[in-house]
Amino acid sequence: MNMWDERYAGNEYAYGTEPNSFLVERALKEPRGRVLSIAEGEGRNAVWLASQGFDVTSFDQSTIGVTKTLKLALHRSVVVHAFKDDMTTFEIEPNSYDMIVSIFAHTTSDIRRGLHQRVTNGLCRGGVVVLEAYTPNQIPFGTGGPKDPDLMPTTDELRTEFPGLVFEHLEEVEREVVEGTLHTGHAAVVQMVARKPL
Ligand SMILES: C[S@@+](CC[C@H](N)C(=O)[O-])C[C@H]1O[C@@H](n2cnc3c(N)ncnc32)[C@H](O)[C@@H]1O
Repeated sequence: MNMWDERYAGNEYAYGTEPNSFLVERALKEPRGRVLSIAEGEGRNAVWLASQGFDVTSFDQSTIGVTKTLKLALHRSVVVHAFKDDMTTFEIEPNSYDMIVSIFAHTTSDIRRGLHQRVTNGLCRGGVVVLEAYTPNQIPFGTGGPKDPDLMPTTDELRTEFPGLVFEHLEEVEREVVEGTLHTGHAAVVQMVARKPL
């Protein structure tokens, strides 16, 4: 069993069952359409997006995370197309999604660069990426997230990883994160909304 399956093995939801607050603020401004949520975990964001009328596909490498996503969707009477896959190799069909969501989807910078290129290709014209992640400044806070700065993007890195998109919002901020037992407390994050031109 891998680290994430071990984290998700209990009945509780490690990051809670409520959506990420940055996603809520930004997604509600978007027209309803097809959404892909990468590294969805246990489903809190995908299920909330489906409850708001989006057509949601999600994946995560954790089998238990995918099972709990489907369980939460059933409990909330919504449909999420959730499956197990890996950010390293996941192929995103070009021009297929109106929104791609990446919330605390931490991976190494080399995998991230390739993924973000596929994310850009996978967006429809006018489509948007909504991303929040811990930055390296988070490490001393110890309130969640990886301990290796290579897994934690900065604004400068994101700017270079999404060259074809227009940044509507890109900033590093400190905020209180309250998401289950594993993400709780004062935190350093980067928040991004970037759109593919029409
Ligand atoms: C901090 S959790 C965030 C989960 C979810 N996005 C949320 O906000 O609740 C990180 C997630 O990334 C997933 N993950 C890590 N590496 C992955 C990979 N290579 N491919 C797909 N998922 C991965 C883990 O299984 C875990 O569910």
